[in-house]
Amino acid sequence: MSQVLSDGSQSRPWHAQSQWSQCSQEQLADADGGRRTLAGNVVVGSIGRSCSFASMMARASRQPPASWACDAELRGPWRSVTRPSGRHRMRDSIVDRRTWLEERRAAVQAAYDAEASTYADDPYPVEVQHRFVARLLDTCPPGGIVLDAPCGTGLYFPLVAASGRSVVGIDQSAGMLEQARARSIAVSLQHVGLQELAFDREFDAVMTVDAMENVFPEDWPVVLGNLHRALRPGGHLYLTVEETGEAAIADAFAALSARGLPAVRGEVIEGDVAGYHFYPGREQVFGWLEAEGLRIAEEETEALDGWAYWHLLLRSR
Ligand SMILES: C[S@@+](CC[C@H](N)C(=O)[O-])C[C@H]1O[C@@H](n2cnc3c(N)ncnc32)[C@H](O)[C@@H]1O
Repeated sequence: MSQVLSDGSQSRPWHAQSQWSQCSQEQLADADGGRRTLAGNVVVGSIGRSCSFASMMARASRQPPASWACDAELRGPWRSVTRPSGRHRMRDSIVDRRTWLEERRAAVQAAYDAEASTYADDPYPVEVQHRFVARLLDTCPPGGIVLDAPCGTGLYFPLVAASGRSVVGIDQSAGMLEQARARSIAVSLQHVGLQELAFDREFDAVMTVDAMENVFPEDWPVVLGNLHRALRPGGHLYLTVEETGEAAIADAFAALSARGLPAVRGEVIEGDVAGYHFYPGREQVFGWLEAEGLRIAEEETEALDGWAYWHLLLRSR
């Protein structure tokens, strides 16, 4: 069901259009603690199967939606259990990855909805973001149009407006969009997820600031593809990638696995992560950028207190 927003645009609920409808069983089976190699390959637990994550995504997108009742192909302690009747047993301590990730995405949406009205009260350092947004705006023609996806409360709208460009914002959180709308700067605000973006060569520049950490590994290629497709030829994309220490990643993976949850290494759901963070390795990100045809024009690593932001200014190869 779509919702008409105050600017006349229509919201497109992510749960009605999830990219999960294009994911294969095999792809999800790789979530059973599979170790991702530097080349972006996945070595699956004790089975030792190795295959390219990018090729899995390509294959998945060519396939019709997979049946979740195909238990034989699933591996790992978290797999959903199929009764002889073919129906799934309601989960107890065992949960399938798709269900778990849908819950995680809903948790992120709820977390931002809940904190939207006070989000701006707790600022964090954004000097480097400001610098990269300014660099991004320099790449835009005068009077150009910028997509801020997701825009949150519209923190960077004033910078865009001051440069003489116009801005369109999208976000999956209605609460955050409400705050963004109060700024009365964006020419359009749309209630839509990064995974469901359907813009086609409409923007001179795109920014995705402090948000990719909420995106599952399975959705990274889809999201990068959507952001890239939104750009006009020659346009630039400013993207941040949050990073954290190996020990934190290892501890989180051990804890989630011990709870029988279908996590992959890099996923964190507890602490200051709004319900879900994924920290990909740089080699993995390089692989996704390469597959999408995006090259790094500028980059900077900003070390913070126990974590970091990797700032990337990207353009088509
Ligand atoms: C930390 S805030 C950053 C917002 C803004 N880019 C900024 O820098 O102020 C993260 C935002 O990402 C949004 N978000 C997270 N996952 C999303 C998704 N899959 N699709 C669209 N928005 C998402 C949240 O609702 C939230 O507004």
